[in-house]
Amino acid sequence: MAQLWGGRFVGETDKTAYEFNASIRFDKRLFKEDIEGSIAHVTMLAKQGILTEEERDSILQGLAEIRDDVLTGRLVIDDVCEDIHSFVEARLIERTKDVGKKLHTGRSRNDQVALDMRLYTRKQVRETDTLLKELLTVILTVMEENLDTYMPGFTHLQKAQPTTLAHHYGAYFEMFRRDRERMADIYRRMNYCPLGAGALAGTTYDLDREYTAFLLGFTGPTRNSMDSVSDRDYLIEFLAALSTVMMHLSRFSEEIINWNSNEYQFVEIDDAYSTGSSIMPQKKNPDIAELVRGKTGRVYGALVSLLTVMKGIPLAYNKDMQEDKELAFDAMDTVRNCLTLFTGMLRTMRFKKEHMAASAMNGFTNATDAADYLVGKGVPFRDAHGIVGRLVLYCVEKNTSIEKLSLEELQNISDYFGADIYEAVSLKTCVEKRLTLGAPGIAAMKAMIEQCRAYLMESDYLMEAKHS
Ligand code: ARG
Repeated sequence: MAQLWGGRFVGETDKTAYEFNASIRFDKRLFKEDIEGSIAHVTMLAKQGILTEEERDSILQGLAEIRDDVLTGRLVIDDVCEDIHSFVEARLIERTKDVGKKLHTGRSRNDQVALDMRLYTRKQVRETDTLLKELLTVILTVMEENLDTYMPGFTHLQKAQPTTLAHHYGAYFEMFRRDRERMADIYRRMNYCPLGAGALAGTTYDLDREYTAFLLGFTGPTRNSMDSVSDRDYLIEFLAALSTVMMHLSRFSEEIINWNSNEYQFVEIDDAYSTGSSIMPQKKNPDIAELVRGKTGRVYGALVSLLTVMKGIPLAYNKDMQEDKELAFDAMDTVRNCLTLFTGMLRTMRFKKEHMAASAMNGFTNATDAADYLVGKGVPFRDAHGIVGRLVLYCVEKNTSIEKLSLEELQNISDYFGADIYEAVSLKTCVEKRLTLGAPGIAAMKAMIEQCRAYLMESDYLMEAKHS
C-alpha cells in the first residue's frame, strides 16, 4: 500500500478496503495525460514565480524521464500505488528528492483527474471521428460504383419499391455523417480546462489558468471550480454519441446478416471476416457483423450506468465518480474495434448483383409505378390504386407478375392499359423516374454523391482546435 495522505491517519487501511478503493489497475492508461497535465502545471507555476526556474527544470526533466522509462518498458506501472497520480508523483519524488514534492502545489487530485480524463476523452473523440470518416469513405465508394445496382427497398421487411444499392448505402452515409457532427459538437463543448479548480474552491496561489489551458490546447479554462471537478457531462454526451454509432452499426450489421443468408444471397462476406462451423462443413458465418450487433448492449450499458452514477451525488467531487473510467474505457475500446472491423468487412464484401436485381423484380415492387402509369392516363390515383390491387390479386392467383401479363389480360382489368405499360413498369424505369431530391434515380443520386464527396473533402476542419 502506498498512499499520499498518510499524515492524518493513525491506523492502517484495511487491505481489502484499500484494494476496493484503488484505481491504478485501470487508470494507468491515463499515464501520458497525467504527465502532460503536470508538465503544463509546473510550467505555469514557474511563470507565476511560484516555483523557481531550476525547480521547474528538474521537475520537467524528472517527468520526461518517467515518461520515457514507462514507454520503453524500463519502468513498470505496478499496482502498489493507489492511482496513477500517486504513482507518477512517487516516482518523481524518488528521482528529484524534495523538489518533486512541489509538483502538487496549487493542485488537487480532483482537478488533476478531471483534466486527465478530459485529455484522454478528447483524443478518443478525435479518433472516433477519424474512424467514422474512413467508414464514410468506403460507403461512398460503394455508392459511386453501384448507381444502377438494383435491389428491393423494404418496409416492414416486405418488398416495397425498387431502389439501388447506392441509395441504400446513401442512407447509412447520412447516419454516420450525423455521428461525426456529434463528435465535433461534443469536442467544441468539452474543450475547456478544469486544471486550477483545486479540490473544489480554487486555490490561494496566483495561478494563471488561461495559460495552462492554452498550453494544453484548450479553448480556455472552465468557469466554475466546483463544476470543474464535478462535471462528467462530456463523458455522458460522448457515451450517448457512441451508443448512437453502435445503434447504426448494429442496424447495418443486421441487414448484412440477412443479405448474407441463403434466403437473400445479396452479398458474400469475404473469408477474412467470416468464420466456419466446427460441425457443419458448409457454413460460412457472419460472426463479425453479429458481434458488432451484440456488443451494442455494453455501450448502451456504459451510458445508462454513468447516468445512474451521476444522478444522486452532491457537489463537488465524490468517489463514485471514479466509476466513470472502466465504463468509459470499455465503451471507447468497443466502439474503436467495432468501427475498424466493420469498415474492413464492408470494404471487402462482394455484391451478387443478379440476385439483388431478381429479387427487386418479384414481389410486385413495380405496383406503385403501374398505378402512377394509370394516373398518367387520367385515372384518379385512388381508382388507380384499386385497379392495380385487382391486378396484383389476379397475378397472385396465376403465380405471375405484372410485366409478364399479356396486354389483353391487362386490358381485361382496365382499358387504360396500353402497349407502353411494359416500359413503364420495368425495373430500370421504376428507379430512373424517381428523381426527387434524395431519391434513387441516377441523376438525383449523382448530385447527392457529389455533395457527399465535397463534404468528405472539407469536413476535417470541424475539430481544428490545437490538440495534443
Ligand atoms: N482515482 C480517483 C478518480 O478516479 C482520483 C481522484 C481522487 N480524489 C480524491 N479526492 N480521492 O476519481
